[in-house]
Amino acid sequence: MKIKVKSPANIAFIKYWGQADHRLTLPCNSSFSMNLSNCSVTVEIEKTQSLSDSRLFIKEYEAVDYIENTTSAYKKTMKFFKTAQDFLGKKAEFGIKVKSSITFPRSAGIASSAAYFSALALGFSKLLEVELDKKQLSILARLSGSGSACRSVPDGFVLWHKGRSSETSFAESLADPDYWQITDLVLILSKTSKKVESAEGHLKADTSPLFAERLYGVEKRLKLMLTAFKHKDLELFGHLVESEALSMHAVMMSQKPNLYYWSTKTFALLRRITALRQKNGLPVYFTIDAGANIHLITERRFLKQIISEFSAFLTISNKSAKGAEVI
Ligand code: PMV
Repeated sequence: MKIKVKSPANIAFIKYWGQADHRLTLPCNSSFSMNLSNCSVTVEIEKTQSLSDSRLFIKEYEAVDYIENTTSAYKKTMKFFKTAQDFLGKKAEFGIKVKSSITFPRSAGIASSAAYFSALALGFSKLLEVELDKKQLSILARLSGSGSACRSVPDGFVLWHKGRSSETSFAESLADPDYWQITDLVLILSKTSKKVESAEGHLKADTSPLFAERLYGVEKRLKLMLTAFKHKDLELFGHLVESEALSMHAVMMSQKPNLYYWSTKTFALLRRITALRQKNGLPVYFTIDAGANIHLITERRFLKQIISEFSAFLTISNKSAKGAEVI
């Protein structure tokens, strides 16, 4: 029996940063995202004879072959396999062989862990023969520890309700992928993996003197953003997306120890994006996750012009996409 699952990365317009419960990965605020059509992870899972015979093979972005991983990624995968068994109420009498491939650079602020763990959540539930609806599947994905994985389960544009308990902290689709032709053009400025993983950064978010202020502001921004989303008001939407990214990075930079994910290239490009908007009237907005790479947010009709402005960079263009699926 071999299960093959494909799951997208997602880009958060309203970010998740900081946890109300570390053990259950409950966030301090709700967040809102879009699944990415050209940034995804595919996993193939097979049963093996015994649990001690479990193995993980990873094919990185642009690599030709799968390479066996026996370190951190392997340990996290096996830990999540155990979590999935507990959640699903099934004990596996077998081990697993997992093969994972990715269409974009890993650990560079493009939500590779969200794509990976949402794919595993669906894969493990199929392997253990338990049918879950999208809500339950998103809860299982959240329990992987990469909370944003829950947002890669439902289709299109997704809201993660922060909730107050494990049952009430889940993701749901607010609109199908074709609701709005929003495009995320990822500018790959760096392919190197970040030094501090977001899982570690979340734990220290509340050491920032700006964190309480952010939590107050983020609720208001989310409300306003959902109104802009309803009316497909790109200008208001884009400005809120930028404010939100800056608010999260202000917290990251001022928490202890400080987290500086931007590179000098990132900073120079932010200036260029603002100038493009002001001088050329191009409606293009930025957002950045835990990495140096920039996501340019616009509508599809402006994409060609924007790509020509950034032709010197390696880019990945994404529209909104479906969530995790068996292929
Ligand atoms: O889900 P995690 O633990 O990988 O954290 C995601 C954190 C950000 O990407 C920076 C923000 C977000 O909401 O995706």
